[in-house]
Amino acid sequence: MTDAADLPALINLDDLAREAARRLPTPALDYYRSGARDESTLQDNRAAFGRWRLRPRVLVDVSQRDPATTVLGQPVRLPLLVAPTAFQSMAWPQGELATARACARAGTVMTLSTLSTWPMEAVVEAWRGAGGPENGGAIWFQLYVYKDRDLCRALVERAHAAGCRALVVTVDAPILGTRERDVRNRFRLPDSLNIADLLDAAGMAGEAVRRGSPTGSQLADFVYQVLDPALTWADIAWLRSISPLPIVLKGVLRADDARRAVDVGCAGILVSNHGGRQLDGAIAALDALPEVVAAVDGQAEVYMDGGLRRGTDLLKALALGAQAAFIGRPMVWGLSVAGEAGVTHVLGLLRAELDEAMALCGCPTVADIGPDLLCR
Ligand SMILES: Cc1cc2nc3c(=O)[nH]c(=O)nc-3n(C[C@H](O)[C@H](O)[C@H](O)COP(=O)(O)O)c2cc1C
Repeated sequence: MTDAADLPALINLDDLAREAARRLPTPALDYYRSGARDESTLQDNRAAFGRWRLRPRVLVDVSQRDPATTVLGQPVRLPLLVAPTAFQSMAWPQGELATARACARAGTVMTLSTLSTWPMEAVVEAWRGAGGPENGGAIWFQLYVYKDRDLCRALVERAHAAGCRALVVTVDAPILGTRERDVRNRFRLPDSLNIADLLDAAGMAGEAVRRGSPTGSQLADFVYQVLDPALTWADIAWLRSISPLPIVLKGVLRADDARRAVDVGCAGILVSNHGGRQLDGAIAALDALPEVVAAVDGQAEVYMDGGLRRGTDLLKALALGAQAAFIGRPMVWGLSVAGEAGVTHVLGLLRAELDEAMALCGCPTVADIGPDLLCR
């Protein structure tokens, strides 16, 4: 059986996760699935969706349904976007190129990690070649702020020139949260792969992630070497001043931080605890969403990620005020099972589940999804 031929039997995201676990070598699987320390936040991200119940409306004409919306003024065919995940070629040789093509065909946003194994220009080209511009959606570029600010500026300029449409600045990783599975496995990037966008700029790329490791995880060492733990709001204001692209701040979990993000000019706020991979014990992303939505009060768009695995989860996030929500690991599982076809399958499953949830809740459009649909 070919990889894509396996897909119809995988009828939900848990099936895909199990199939990916069967296929991936342990260090890669553990890198993708792990959370920080006891993984309590990883589990709570998922559990938070179960703490809400739905109050469906009846006798609404739902014969025509449309999940389309906009993010940062850009049309998307569904309110589900793809979060940045590093090192996608460990899952599938074409890695980020395959993800970009699937997102182009689905008409949604792919957020490209700074730690991509393919150069951003090639990823945008793959997205264009697969009909991205016609279908809606976009490539957004995720930036970690490096100690070397010239490198940051160069990456921002490259992202703009390549055709990326937003800068997603991740601020919950001043250091790397310890994923103990990676420590045990002495996680390292396979020899054949590199951090493509840092190759020329920093002369370090994959080598730095492969060097001898005092902490046990070479990724952790790499982060200690190049990311700036001294980052503050002033640096976000600086980025805002040099970036022609709108900024989405990723990793906000509090109302006061959300207000400051608006004050420094961020166009979007992504409520996220990095999929439970940074501070173990941090609040579940869905639980943090309402206070951020209230604090921002419509002055920026608010998104969330973490633990979303069902169409009803997506509907709950929208009901709590998210403009859209992201998936991280499910996209990696799809990629691991069947590359582009696998990511397409994941997006298709969630699209169908959202459609079902909208029909059964009496919501023909995304605009009909509101907080009245939820109770504890
Ligand atoms: C394997 C993996 C790699 C990730 N790499 C990045 C990254 O490079 N940059 C970033 O901002 N977030 C990264 N994240 C966090 C995701 O963008 C996202 O916040 C998280 O995966 C959402 O939770 P979910 O996996 O439960 O959907 C990564 C997550 C995973 C699982």
